Amino acid sequence: SNVRSPRIVKFDLEAQPSSVTLGDRTANLFTYNGQVPGPQLEARPGDAVRIRFTNRLSEPTNLHYHGLHIPPTGTADNVYLNIGSGQTFDYEFTLPTDHPAGTFFYHPHFHGRVADQVFRGLGGIFVVRGDLDEIPEVKAAQEEFVFLKDFEIDPNGQVPNPNPMQIMQGREGSLVTVNGKENPIFSLQTGGLLRLRMINASTSRFYRLALENHPLHLIATDAGAIAAPVELQEILLSPGERAEVLVQGNQPAGEYRLLNLPYDRGMMGMMGQGSMRGMGSMRGMGRMSGNASQTTPQVLATIQYSGSTAPLPLPQQLLPVAELPQPATSRRIELSMGMGGMGMGRSGMGMGMAFLLDGKSYDHDRVDATVQLDTVEEWEIVNTGPMAMDHPFHLHINSFQVISRNGQPEPYVAWKDTVLVRANETVRIRVPFRNYAGKTVYHCHIFDHEDQGMMATIAMQ
Ligand code: C2O
Ligand code: CU
Ligand code: CU
Repeated sequence: SNVRSPRIVKFDLEAQPSSVTLGDRTANLFTYNGQVPGPQLEARPGDAVRIRFTNRLSEPTNLHYHGLHIPPTGTADNVYLNIGSGQTFDYEFTLPTDHPAGTFFYHPHFHGRVADQVFRGLGGIFVVRGDLDEIPEVKAAQEEFVFLKDFEIDPNGQVPNPNPMQIMQGREGSLVTVNGKENPIFSLQTGGLLRLRMINASTSRFYRLALENHPLHLIATDAGAIAAPVELQEILLSPGERAEVLVQGNQPAGEYRLLNLPYDRGMMGMMGQGSMRGMGSMRGMGRMSGNASQTTPQVLATIQYSGSTAPLPLPQQLLPVAELPQPATSRRIELSMGMGGMGMGRSGMGMGMAFLLDGKSYDHDRVDATVQLDTVEEWEIVNTGPMAMDHPFHLHINSFQVISRNGQPEPYVAWKDTVLVRANETVRIRVPFRNYAGKTVYHCHIFDHEDQGMMATIAMQ
């Protein structure tokens, strides 16, 4: 009945080379507006978003709004834009009124340069505020963002270029930061609730997260709330994934560490050890290796009790998650790697390793999947081959639900836009294609793999 014109929210973003203090050193990075992470963008469902973006880098870039359900074309989530050095571009899009509230993510998506630009610091949080935030127990919680980002900085404050092996495995940095800080402190009241909104914004590093003495009560995944909290002892976030958890302040007052536990993402067997060798300088124990060879927990942040409050309950219910109808179409998508010339990315490293989707390397001029709007598809994503390693599979524009892993049904229903497909695993997802026609991409979210060709084009019509 009442048609309101949308609220307009405006932001200015500038990609720029910047000198930034990280931990105990000054680093020459790429930033948005001089900040790591970039400025936090916030909007509500139904808002018209205007982002004036200027590229002050000496190379092309663009912006991608990871997880947002907006058009893949024009001035919206258009990954084909080439915004040259010195150029300004006005992004304009409107969030649908039924857009889920949640923790989203913006980062560059100029194919061939993504891993490097993200590793140098580009990325930021895009928050959609809405119904999830209005649930009384969630609203009462203290909100903190946990933007997980690793860096490698050499003694001259430069980000070193990775070697071919690191590009193949996916480059990791030895300096792990949360919100651009080393081991920041979050305070928690006795009796209180802490809402941690976690984003893996790293190029390739995985985080296996656990909080000492505290279970994590999952309330939201990549693309919004789940139906009711799920208690977990740990959460694995591969690049691009997000999770929101509530933590109860019901332990003896003190300090508890948020840890990154060891995890082997299968960095191609024989090559997995000492992944950061030759990259940057020695900076002390526990810093030089990626997760693959990490054997002890790494401290990411510290939760410190301070003060107390009347005990706050966990929510019993969150928001209903729609069950999807039967799929109209099934597809099989194979993630693989192979030796051989085809498919080397623009980085042109000479290892002869190809990163493939369905046996093919990304080709901007080829459409790999054509889907009909207003249908649901089931995708079987197969990660196979003698050298298989974990690949986080990501689809733009439309979120999906994970149905099963190696035939085992998922324990709860959740909206995702990135799903980890472990080495030798088959994951089934269901995707409702809605609202927006046009072309976009799906790819491995280890950006080095994406840049090297593990990406494909989907046309929605
Ligand atoms: Cu977060 Cu296509 O990427
Ligand atoms: Cu994305
Ligand atoms: Cu990959």
